[in-house]
Amino acid sequence: MSRIVIQNLFNRTINSDVDDRKVIELIHENGIDWMHACGKKGRCTTCKIILVQGGENLLPMNDREMAFAAQGRLQPGERLACQAILLSGEILVKVAEINKFPHIEYSE
Ligand code: FES
Repeated sequence: MSRIVIQNLFNRTINSDVDDRKVIELIHENGIDWMHACGKKGRCTTCKIILVQGGENLLPMNDREMAFAAQGRLQPGERLACQAILLSGEILVKVAEINKFPHIEYSE
């Protein structure tokens, strides 16, 4: 059982009975529009999530995320939603300011 709570989207909550899923797949399957400019291939950072809590419930960063972190394009506490795998448990995340859509209302 896993859960994603998107803090600045009015605490929108996604529950899943299936563990070990990519964060972005869970978000998209629940009808939430989330940027993914490179097609979820780990080649941009538009899908990034800002982790508020629960980072220990994700698999550690993979090579693509590590490369962006080394370039300073992922800050500490940021992960790529298309690469990060939610093992089980809950993560509390935020949409980055730069990746907000104009047609969606965010709560902060
Ligand atoms: S969609 Fe491009 S890195 Fe995730």
